[in-house]
Amino acid sequence: MGPLPWRVAWHEALYAAERGFYLTRGGPSSHFTTAAHGPTGAVLADGLLRLWHRTHRDRPRVIVDVGAGQGELATHLLHALTGPPPDGSRLSAAAESHRTPRLLAVDVVARPDGLDARIDWLRSPGGAALPDELTGLSGALVIGHEWLDVIPCTIAQVDASGSPREVLVDSAGHESLGGPLGGAEREWAERHWPGIRPGGRIEIGLTRDEVWFTLVSRVRDGLLVAVDYGHVGGERPNGGTLTAYAHGAEITPVPDGSCDLTAHVAMDTLEHDELIRQRDVLRDLGLRGLTPDVALATTDPPGYLATLARCSAEARLIARGGFGDYWWAVRHVAHLDVA
Ligand SMILES: C[S@@+](CC[C@H](N)C(=O)[O-])C[C@H]1O[C@@H](n2cnc3c(N)ncnc32)[C@H](O)[C@@H]1O
Repeated sequence: MGPLPWRVAWHEALYAAERGFYLTRGGPSSHFTTAAHGPTGAVLADGLLRLWHRTHRDRPRVIVDVGAGQGELATHLLHALTGPPPDGSRLSAAAESHRTPRLLAVDVVARPDGLDARIDWLRSPGGAALPDELTGLSGALVIGHEWLDVIPCTIAQVDASGSPREVLVDSAGHESLGGPLGGAEREWAERHWPGIRPGGRIEIGLTRDEVWFTLVSRVRDGLLVAVDYGHVGGERPNGGTLTAYAHGAEITPVPDGSCDLTAHVAMDTLEHDELIRQRDVLRDLGLRGLTPDVALATTDPPGYLATLARCSAEARLIARGGFGDYWWAVRHVAHLDVA
């Protein structure tokens, strides 16, 4: 393969039929851990439902997890919904007793074996494309957890004359500089990532902005939440953040289908109503990671251990330098009847 723009090589490496990393290598959890996995996933699910109930009395009609991996977060959401409602939520008595929302997990792979039958599964083309069937969502809580960082984006590098040029890459990972950035990508760079000196890199967030905008447009009414690692204007990384993971290790990015490829998300350029650090939003929602009173250990040892485990998962989700640094871009969509 000759050198291709990173955006194109990245898409092929992750999503090409029969050779893309996400279609052939056993799913994200075989290669890296996210907050959606294990005990933190259970607390995250609780936090997302609390966020919903900040603005809605009744449960969502449908919960959609886009970029669902193997359905880990969808499974935690199902358990959270079929168990007691979260403490401090404003569920009405009627809402508490009524139906469980439809749960829909969306990813590029076929439905995983063993996934709970109460979770629906929808296959997606992957990358910057979404399935056409995902539309007209009403009463919807839509989540993209660590999804946008794997949407391939254009990578540019500022040359010696100060001009941003597209970075090309071959299948061995060797890079070269292509032509100058043009059109909407150049405008995006000038507007959102200004002042980069020669040698500096820009990860153009346009593809992420567009696919998120598309997802928002598929919702008639509800709440969308993009949770990801990223940056905001004034704090952009200069050297670029593109990296790769395989089998639990961070490695040099090579677009050959053997590894995940990811770059931080320009979170502030996504269409949003609120943009909040995960540690702040979860604390506001009452998830503070406070250890239980040790006296509980003598009166209720199993209860003490369960509360301790829950608190330690909360603490991991709000930790500075860890999951707590993630951003939540929240978009509220209200349906307007246009006469
Ligand atoms: C980094 S993994 C995160 C998985 C899971 N959300 C988690 O947090 O553990 C990103 C996932 O997004 C999926 N993905 C990428 N583009 C997609 C698209 N357009 N529609 C649905 N899923 C997509 C990938 O296949 C992959 O499973």
